[in-house]
Amino acid sequence: MNATELDRALGFAPMQEADLEWVAEQDKLLYPFPWAAVNFADSMSAGYGCWTMFEGGERAGYAVLMMVLDEVHILNISVVGERQGRGLGRRLLDHLAAVAKEAGARQMFLEVRPSNTPALALYQRAGFETIGRRKGYYPAADGREDGLVMRWPL
Ligand SMILES: CC(C)(COP(=O)(O)OP(=O)(O)OC[C@H]1O[C@@H](n2cnc3c(N)ncnc32)[C@H](O)[C@@H]1OP(=O)(O)O)[C@@H](O)C(=O)NCCC(=O)NCCS
Repeated sequence: MNATELDRALGFAPMQEADLEWVAEQDKLLYPFPWAAVNFADSMSAGYGCWTMFEGGERAGYAVLMMVLDEVHILNISVVGERQGRGLGRRLLDHLAAVAKEAGARQMFLEVRPSNTPALALYQRAGFETIGRRKGYYPAADGREDGLVMRWPL
């Protein structure tokens, strides 16, 4: 599938309650310390931007973003395991950036584990820069892991 065909096959919709069970199942597969369905439900109730990405009508990824004044924070961005490495993560990120920009955001922030090579690659390719390091930000199998703070001017 070339880039144009991929773009045509993709769609984005606000996350629905009917997505929650699937989203939590995926999160369990994708993260060592996943969110539960209730965490996604709380994000929806809090008015955070919660998105489901579709490929050819099937759920392919999801994301949660929080707006604070003119800043947007990505709290979760995920692509289904078997669909990774084909440009979906970048397109989901671009969708979030477009939504945030439209809502008046000027900068996008996120935290990432330094050990998360695919995520770091995605963010660096997109133009995020590392602006800080939060010591022991994440739980890890053998204690805590630092979080890199990254920023992307929109
Ligand atoms: C991070 C994640 C969203 C990336 O999604 P993806 O669909 O695989 O990413 P893409 O195919 O759009 O790749 C984006 C860029 O990152 C690079 N990249 C992706 N995976 C990579 C890997 N494993 N190693 C090196 N580079 C990688 C690609 O080369 C691409 O750059 P390019 O467009 O210049 O070729 C996906 O891996 C994921 O869901 N991971 C599990 C959940 C997670 O860790 N989320 C992030 C939490 S901070």
